[in-house]
Amino acid sequence: MKQLLVVLVTFAVVGGTFRLEAEATNDAGRVQAAQETASQRDVRMAWWRDARFGMFIHWGLYAVPAGDYNGKRSKEIGEWIMSWANIPRAQYEQFAPRFNPEKFNAAEWVRIAKDAGMKYMVITSKHHDGFSMFDSAATTYDIVDATPFKKDPMRALADECKRQGLKFAFYYSIMDWHHPSQYVDAPGKDPTAGHGQTKMREGRKQEYVDYMKAQLKELVTKYDPAVLWFDGEWVDWWTEEDGQDLYKYVRSLKPDILINNRVGKGRKGMEGLNKTDRAYSGDFGTPEQQIPASGLPGVDWESCMTMNDTWGFKSYDENWKSSERLIRNLVDIVSKGGNYLLNVGPTPEGTIPAASVERLAAMGQWMKVNGESIHGTTASPFSTQLTWGRATRKGNTLYLHVFDWPADGTLKIPSMGAQPASAPILGGDADLKIEAAADSFTIKLPARPVNPIASVIKVQLH
Ligand code: GLC
Repeated sequence: MKQLLVVLVTFAVVGGTFRLEAEATNDAGRVQAAQETASQRDVRMAWWRDARFGMFIHWGLYAVPAGDYNGKRSKEIGEWIMSWANIPRAQYEQFAPRFNPEKFNAAEWVRIAKDAGMKYMVITSKHHDGFSMFDSAATTYDIVDATPFKKDPMRALADECKRQGLKFAFYYSIMDWHHPSQYVDAPGKDPTAGHGQTKMREGRKQEYVDYMKAQLKELVTKYDPAVLWFDGEWVDWWTEEDGQDLYKYVRSLKPDILINNRVGKGRKGMEGLNKTDRAYSGDFGTPEQQIPASGLPGVDWESCMTMNDTWGFKSYDENWKSSERLIRNLVDIVSKGGNYLLNVGPTPEGTIPAASVERLAAMGQWMKVNGESIHGTTASPFSTQLTWGRATRKGNTLYLHVFDWPADGTLKIPSMGAQPASAPILGGDADLKIEAAADSFTIKLPARPVNPIASVIKVQLH
């Protein structure tokens, strides 16, 4: 132990102090930077930065109505049905005895994620509706106590992820429509009030914070998640100080856990990155349903996005993005230095919708050939966006993702200082011909792309 401490201190002096200063203005991890050096933080973030692609899972009682409450349907997202259909607590609770996901198969879910090339999964342990999808001692409003299913799917998923080599993580909502400490004002009318902005009852906040901490302790100590992904932090009774306290608490339970920036108040709207006026808690930014236009050097971020228009299952949402769109989103995000957290909303029976499974399989086929251009790579080295596609890099290897196959068969690449030595297409057979000029180099392409969605050329630089 003593030896370990000496190593850490040396690390701190050699590794980090200067960079800490430099990163301080826009680093989403500014708060804990005071407690760990930049290199210690790099070690903690390493697996996540390499992973690049994860599965988001929104699964809860809202899967039962599946976007339909007494014949009332809406364009709104499925997991917000308690809000937009203005369902009273006592009525909403009635979904619990109807929730019996008998087809749930943890091994299958993890396999679907793994085959798609995903390296981690983040699942709703408790969404805004307050229902716990794990076996919690802090409440009986949970899947084991309140549903005929009586089993804990989070236990099964955590174990399966370990078995199949994926990182397992939890989403947890701070805003809670069910906990008695909070109430809903002006339901269904003003979007800045109502369910979107619960009120905290006078003198009840500590009780609720204690409740959250008790649940988080269960989640961290029993399931060993790699990330805690908070949400619902925008309510006006939640402060940045509360966020910092919760951040520290969760890390005290598991020092190397990662926590998103929605634990505190640093998030800039749906853009999800951090405000820079002061220090905010959290390790990474969370753009929602969008990809930041250009990369953000020095900031860790993860875009969370849906495949159709909802997070939680809706039986009638068929507005699916194509596999081409999803694959190109992945490439686009990774070329800008971010992670892609792609959502599925399982059914009340416990299955991932077929349309999602098909798309993930298509992504997996692409990843089987081209995954090395995604995993473990960093942002494009080019300062401007390439007209024909995207680029990622891994050390001396440059990966060129061609979306639009040039009609003249010539790909022009700005020079990077280093000279290209070879350029095979992943999944193709021969090396491509490279011609170097002073400020650029060109690659001669075959007549047809290997993959019309994105063919990847692997350029080895000297
Ligand atoms: C929003 C929504 C929520 C969803 C989340 C995913 O905050 O309120 O329903 O879980 O985005 O990022």
